[in-house]
Amino acid sequence: MAYEDEPKIIHQHINVPDIRKIGVYEANGGYSAWRKALSEMSGDEVLNEVKASGLGGRGGAWFPTGVKWSFMPKPVFPKYLVCNCDESEPGTFSNREIVLKHPHILLEGFMLGCYAIGCNHGYIYVRGEMMKGYAVLRQALAEARARGYVGKNVLGSGFDLEITLHTGAGAYICGEETALLSSLEGDRGQPRLKPPFPAVAGLYAKPTSVNNVETLSNVAYIIREGADAFKQYGTEEKPGMKIVSVSGHVNRPGNYECPVGTPIRKVLEEYAGGVWKGKELKGFYPGGSSTPMLGPDKLDTPLAPKAIEAAGSILGTAGLCIFDEDTDIVHVAARLIRFYKHESCGKCTPCREGNDWLVAVLRRLDEGRGKDGDLDMLLDMAGNIAGRSFCLLGDAAAAPVVSSIKEFRADFEKRITNPPDEKIFIPLSIANGH
Ligand SMILES: Cc1cc2nc3c(=O)[nH]c(=O)nc-3n(C[C@H](O)[C@H](O)[C@H](O)COP(=O)(O)O)c2cc1C
Repeated sequence: MAYEDEPKIIHQHINVPDIRKIGVYEANGGYSAWRKALSEMSGDEVLNEVKASGLGGRGGAWFPTGVKWSFMPKPVFPKYLVCNCDESEPGTFSNREIVLKHPHILLEGFMLGCYAIGCNHGYIYVRGEMMKGYAVLRQALAEARARGYVGKNVLGSGFDLEITLHTGAGAYICGEETALLSSLEGDRGQPRLKPPFPAVAGLYAKPTSVNNVETLSNVAYIIREGADAFKQYGTEEKPGMKIVSVSGHVNRPGNYECPVGTPIRKVLEEYAGGVWKGKELKGFYPGGSSTPMLGPDKLDTPLAPKAIEAAGSILGTAGLCIFDEDTDIVHVAARLIRFYKHESCGKCTPCREGNDWLVAVLRRLDEGRGKDGDLDMLLDMAGNIAGRSFCLLGDAAAAPVVSSIKEFRADFEKRITNPPDEKIFIPLSIANGH
């Protein structure tokens, strides 16, 4: 079946002209779940339906959303729902498309989430670089307010709901939920120690659930159609759809919404039109640049958390980046580590110092000045970052280095033994991320 004809949830109406406008969204079933919830369901019933659907967080960890919401202590007020719209992982761009093209599906899911956990004031934290998305959300929120979907006594239900949009200042670390909360409070965007988890002490030390844009955008469908309808897609482990962001050396890069468990080969060859220019596949990362790279032998792996884990990587955000046979993997690894080094918040030593050293050694290697022993040194350094940093940014940084050396060691060795005639020179200022 052609991709266009496959069933979809979030993308079902994403290309309907003017779906950004509230009238068009409503004409396509929009806000019927919100109306249904307020008139026929209690907050607990909404929560239980989401729990029954098995929806797992699409921000990367796949933790069950309903279970996360049920951790929120009932008698404590106020409590908060915070939407994580900070999407900054290289190779991941599904949230951005939802916000730009289909903002009401996010807002409706967000409202339902607030209702489910008993939150009367929710926050949407928008990535600093995404000012256009922020403007679209502002407009959509104003429309929703004018319709009475937000504000005091929403649609005469007795439920009050305020929504605040907040922009970050452009820091990858602010996608990490506790750093996001610190940033939202006006502090430096650095992660906090867990426990306490945000469900116990989050925003302003009150119970808080942080949820991803794509996660929340599935909620209106679950409430409108029911948990069973959602579970007809995907796997038993993780029901539903996942939007796969395909980038790199493919003929048709873009976002493709497919059932969880769809083989990577199908997404690459049928939806994204295969590797470009008729070339062979060298490798890919399946879940954003922080997930280990895999080789072509893993192309038949289903896009489902356990299957990807068994293949040696992580599904993460399903940001699938494809590298063709001519890709200079040493350069890719050097480029990615520069990103993570630049984004390290500096709070903990392994990540702050370790990534600096990874950049220095990989840069040297990339420029053809590598030495015997560099690869083992890189692996040793990466091993002292992953699992030893304050938050998972350290693991994210180590993954492309370790996995690229593991998967493509011969390329690295060749770079040391046969350095290129023409040296690639990355100015130190760029290498240092300034
Ligand atoms: C370094 C780092 C960056 C992250 N960036 C994002 C992000 O941009 N968007 C996001 O939704 N989750 C991000 N996460 C995951 C969040 O901490 C959190 O798990 C997620 O927002 C929870 O939402 P979900 O349960 O709906 O997936 C990041 C985590 C780490 C460690």
